[in-house]
Amino acid sequence: MVRFIPVISTFCLLYLVACQPASESSTSNTANQNDAKIDALLASMTVAEKVGQTCQITLDGISAKDANNQTIEPIKIDSNKLKEALEEYKVGSILNVGAHTFSLEDWKVVVDAVYSPFVHGKTKVPIIYGIDAIHGVTYTAASTLFPQEIGLAATWNPDLAYQFGRVTAYETRASGLHWNFSPVLDLGRSPLWSRHFETLGEDPYLVATMGSAISRGYQGDSIGKYGVAACLKHFVGYSAPLSGRDRTPAWIPQKYMSELYLPPFKKAVKEGALTLMINSGVLNGIPGHINKELLTHTLKEDWGFRGFTVSDWEDFIMLHTVHCVAENIYDAVVQGFNAGVDMSMVPYSPQYKEYCSIMIQAVENGDISMERLNDAVRRILWVKSELGLFETDRNQAADYPAFGGQEHRTIAYNSALESITLLENKANCLPLKANQKVLIAGPTADNLIFVNGAWTHTWQGADTAYNNKKGKTIRAAFESKLGLDRCAFAQGAALYLEDQFERTKLVEKQDFLRKAAQSDVIVLCLGEYPSTEKPGDIRSLNLEPEQLELAEMAYASNKKVVLVLVEGRPRIIRSIVDQADAIVQAYLPGDYGAEALVDLLYGDQNFSGKLPYTYPRYDGVIEFYDHPRSVARAKNNSFESYNPQWNFGHGLSYSSIEYKNLEISDTIVGSEDTIQISVSVANVSNRACKEVVQIYVSDHFASFIPAGKRLKGFEKIDIAANSVSTFRFKLSVADLKFANADGDWLLEKGLFSIHIADLTQTFELE
Ligand code: BGC
Repeated sequence: MVRFIPVISTFCLLYLVACQPASESSTSNTANQNDAKIDALLASMTVAEKVGQTCQITLDGISAKDANNQTIEPIKIDSNKLKEALEEYKVGSILNVGAHTFSLEDWKVVVDAVYSPFVHGKTKVPIIYGIDAIHGVTYTAASTLFPQEIGLAATWNPDLAYQFGRVTAYETRASGLHWNFSPVLDLGRSPLWSRHFETLGEDPYLVATMGSAISRGYQGDSIGKYGVAACLKHFVGYSAPLSGRDRTPAWIPQKYMSELYLPPFKKAVKEGALTLMINSGVLNGIPGHINKELLTHTLKEDWGFRGFTVSDWEDFIMLHTVHCVAENIYDAVVQGFNAGVDMSMVPYSPQYKEYCSIMIQAVENGDISMERLNDAVRRILWVKSELGLFETDRNQAADYPAFGGQEHRTIAYNSALESITLLENKANCLPLKANQKVLIAGPTADNLIFVNGAWTHTWQGADTAYNNKKGKTIRAAFESKLGLDRCAFAQGAALYLEDQFERTKLVEKQDFLRKAAQSDVIVLCLGEYPSTEKPGDIRSLNLEPEQLELAEMAYASNKKVVLVLVEGRPRIIRSIVDQADAIVQAYLPGDYGAEALVDLLYGDQNFSGKLPYTYPRYDGVIEFYDHPRSVARAKNNSFESYNPQWNFGHGLSYSSIEYKNLEISDTIVGSEDTIQISVSVANVSNRACKEVVQIYVSDHFASFIPAGKRLKGFEKIDIAANSVSTFRFKLSVADLKFANADGDWLLEKGLFSIHIADLTQTFELE
């Protein structure tokens, strides 16, 4: 059994601790020498070689196929296709697996083959291999799988996010790869969107804090042997489609770009993230891939981003075929590249050949300048050099003995433990008692695909064939904790796909009713079918009616009922909330999440997760915690309309916390000032706990409608049983700025309030 260990102190593997920075002058000398080498290399390259560097293809384009054009298993590289792509077309990057996860041995076959042209001097530049290792190295068998990002956000613990990044980078390197298409920094404000689970929730401060910690974790203080390049995605506005459907238009006024959508990217870029992936959708009528204002002016010029940008899947082609802003592929490539996309994830064969020819032609025609081509290639070469790819001596899997091991699993378990959120607990239903007979039921209780979600071993994550033997389903975690005689299992309902859409059907109803009658408590695991991107589009946030019916059947048995929501976004469950004795939001907690869940349900561990989003009560009313006053205006002209199922930041525990004595250093401040805030946090219970102290600020009046309140700081603190901690925080007055219609920042005089729990203090900015 994986056990909880304190997060920071006892875990000290080499790659988790900070490296000593080199002295400033030696760093800048080395940097200058590297720059000179890159310039010399660039000067020696032909146009075709440069163009090849901007081209990314899928592994499928070079893997060996049988007579029916099916990929040969285990994976083999077709040496002719490899030669054509890498030596003839000079392709500079490869991505992903074929259909499913690889063993470390498979990865060695692939990686040895794709580096061999460089190692043997057939190409001047090594390839860079990109992979979606978004909750652990999801495409390497037996890797350590963590909660998906939405769960990681619910920990409100940036140290855990950093450790997740370090472990994932380590296991990516063990697989021979150097580039991770993660983290997603898109704001989770559209729960209908199929990729909500890949986000860090609805708040820009939380997303920026947790997301930049992940990115720092991937890259470490220096890449060295254990780091990989982060890829911040999807820049920017992808997550807010008006229709709720993936890759469809978003309308986001400049004010809200500045306040909400840009800050997470800006923070991670400023901290040195090496690459960015572009929004596959459309922002304010402009497809992400031709938004020169954002890609070139904001990102590269204003923020000083030095790395490179990569397109998303087939997105140059889609400028013509989907978004209809280019009359042909030539025009699409020229527009996308000139807007500032440095590498195109073309990614299929033979389309990549057409891409390379078009690029060469466009340079010859003067439609793409040599300056722009050089800029893109210099960025790509710089990242390759930062990653150490020019060194032909590559590490092997054996150099990474901690891969998939106990230390990593413990961090994954701790991440799940700190994420799982207790939403309701009536009459102390939880913790469960040792002598209670438990029925474990529901469609998500008995398969690892439900605790992991999409991007797990396969793209959609729904194929059960690749489940990790070390992971436990919720049912298995109960059985190994309690033994078979104290718990029973009845599925009750099954999730499945019909015409690409998620459906639920009731199954073995009598078995469920009989076992319910024999139990004291029913732990009912509801939730979602794994999916992402277009196949993951849904038509309603309502939980499937059959799942609600199963809950009603459980209530009718007159037993205690604990609902466990295994879902990557808030599904509407209003009609079954009141009768539940306890409700737990598990998110998609990963291979070790079920053990964490069971330890929490039995009180062996204490809950500390907090919702990273506002949980809606109604399908048609999506509200956010920072709504302006008008959103709460009710029919009777009171302000009582805001009524989500559960609030952003909500999460109970087995301890009782009381906030008192909120004090601020000044009640009148100037624009350059910093306000000292203190509050006492008392644990008035016999259980130690972790509490997330959340600091919000509201602006009373402003020339643009003020947000109701905004998160400006938080910290997860440990509080011993029956003890009081004083929490101190500094708020810079500059943080009170808001954006105007052009997205420019303003600081206006007037009254502001600071809110911590239900305490408030008000001050005036003069
Ligand atoms: C997704 C990206 C992903 C890429 C490579 C795209 O379809 O939008 O998030 O990184 O595929 O797998």
